[in-house]
Amino acid sequence: MEIIARISRMQARSQQLKREGKSIGFVPTMGALHEGHLSLMRRARAENDSLISSIFVNPTQFGPGEDYKTYPRNMDQDRKLAAGVGVDIIFAPSVTEMYPEGYATYIEVDGLTEGLCGRARPGHFRGVTTVVTKLFNIVRPDRAYFGQKDYQQAIVIKRMTADLHLGPEIIIMPIIREPDGLAMSSRNRYLSKEQRQAALVLSHSLKKAEEMLGRGERDGEIIKDQMAQLIQQEPLAETDYISVVDSDDLTESTEIKGQVLIALAVRIGRTRLIDNILWKDPNSTKI
Ligand code: PAF
Repeated sequence: MEIIARISRMQARSQQLKREGKSIGFVPTMGALHEGHLSLMRRARAENDSLISSIFVNPTQFGPGEDYKTYPRNMDQDRKLAAGVGVDIIFAPSVTEMYPEGYATYIEVDGLTEGLCGRARPGHFRGVTTVVTKLFNIVRPDRAYFGQKDYQQAIVIKRMTADLHLGPEIIIMPIIREPDGLAMSSRNRYLSKEQRQAALVLSHSLKKAEEMLGRGERDGEIIKDQMAQLIQQEPLAETDYISVVDSDDLTESTEIKGQVLIALAVRIGRTRLIDNILWKDPNSTKI
């Protein structure tokens, strides 16, 4: 497995792979790899001739007071995990390589970025879409893989890729959970034992929503209210948002029909965790 830090070198390697007629699968990450990332890498490995993954903790997607400085970084461990699932190249540029002095260009997607995490983290998606565009331009992948846990991010990137004719097919893969239901996240490492237990309210509240939908409840407000009540019972948890939205355009769905995304962000101590489920009305004809 090759590790590349320079943009010019990464571009040369991608061009070489293209000249050889090899398809490129790409998994962008911020490192601190876990099973969620590895599931994307395994799928990308199976579907492409070559597999490139980036490890770059992108400063432009963190707001003031967020965890940019403390975000877990462990290159040695990441290198071993990536090699274990057959990554060919890790692209790990420095911040100055990606954002040299005088850097002034940003990409923004309207609409889809305004609700959910966009409301709580202004500027976050601008940072994500900017860095992903840059990474796509450098790596030139045929397919790029994202996790459903960051569902809003994934569909914002899908929209941007189509709007800007960036090229790669965007593949969204299911959430990988711990055996007790906690969605895997690099930020789970921040949790104490007690907080780790408290963090189960996220998946429990989504289960509750699923049960209500299964029993025929279609009022998004009632579902959100029940989820909020469940979360309130956990003293270490503070709800940031709970949303029921159309899974395509992310507009709020009061009356649930078609496919919806039920998403939430909850603070457990200083750690902000997100989780979601996609739910499709069995009577819906929408595919
Ligand atoms: O999901 C992430 O890890 C990041 O937001 C991404 C897509 C690698 C961009 O920095």
